[in-house]
Amino acid sequence: MANAPPKTWTIGSLVKWATDDFRARGIENPRLDAELIVAHALGIDRMRVILDAERPLDERELSTLRDLVKRRRAYEPIAYLRGEREFYGLRFRVDKRVLVPRPDTETLVDVALARTARVSLSMRMLDLCTGSGCVAIAIARQRPTSAVFATDVSPDAIAVARENALRLGAYNVAFEEADLFAAKMIQGVRFDVVTANPPYIASGEIETLQPDVRDHEPRLALDGGADGLDLVRRIVAEAPEHLAPGGALAMEVGAGEAAATVELFEARGFREIRVDRDIARIERVVSGLV
Ligand SMILES: C[S@@+](CC[C@H](N)C(=O)[O-])C[C@H]1O[C@@H](n2cnc3c(N)ncnc32)[C@H](O)[C@@H]1O
Repeated sequence: MANAPPKTWTIGSLVKWATDDFRARGIENPRLDAELIVAHALGIDRMRVILDAERPLDERELSTLRDLVKRRRAYEPIAYLRGEREFYGLRFRVDKRVLVPRPDTETLVDVALARTARVSLSMRMLDLCTGSGCVAIAIARQRPTSAVFATDVSPDAIAVARENALRLGAYNVAFEEADLFAAKMIQGVRFDVVTANPPYIASGEIETLQPDVRDHEPRLALDGGADGLDLVRRIVAEAPEHLAPGGALAMEVGAGEAAATVELFEARGFREIRVDRDIARIERVVSGLV
């Protein structure tokens, strides 16, 4: 490592060095990231990183750590370095092929479950833009007797989502690569709920995003066209044809996009429209019934 390294690297000295380095680069949670990287590289939990600060690191461990620190210095998301991210109490495999699941999106799961409480045992659900499969799989695990369908236009995302479903025992989810509602497996099916967390960043804003997101997460998962609402508009327009009577559309939108989305829901004839806030109190999920 650079900067006049101590003779023997220990867990503690490496965490300190990496923390200082990340902080200098404007990385948001430098100490947490440093601890997570060390925990991952050594195959131990974070508590041991703190408790075993004096433990020396051998050459092999240092070489793994060098590589991980280098990747984080280039702002690669910590979830890609670790290869996993927790969402709704489940551990999802993630890599650069899919968006990292966000805590905000747990609101979408909560809304979909609440909107379908009356059909819980036999629910049919479609998750559009499934990415890692986090929304579809979280709901499928909550409702093991339901039939969940999930689509994404990216074959890479579908591969990751399928792997997650198998690993997490969500055997009631079927996946297909498709542009929104074009999947063959869903033709003729009417759903109790359609969920979507579509790309919703305005194209012009992508360059202003944090480098973690801008330089590493899939562009296809972010870019929502000129005003961010290209996919939102298409989903609101097409969803009613795929919903059972009384079925719900629940969609995550970007900060500041809820009002425009509510207008789209109203114009398309949805009723009982509501907006739910995420854990940061931002208006995040718009939902309505047909
Ligand atoms: C914001 S990510 C959401 C991923 C995941 N559902 C989540 O919440 O973490 C949006 C996803 O939409 C997919 N996507 C983009 N355009 C699409 C389209 N026209 N049809 C279907 N999926 C699309 C992207 O491949 C990406 O996986």
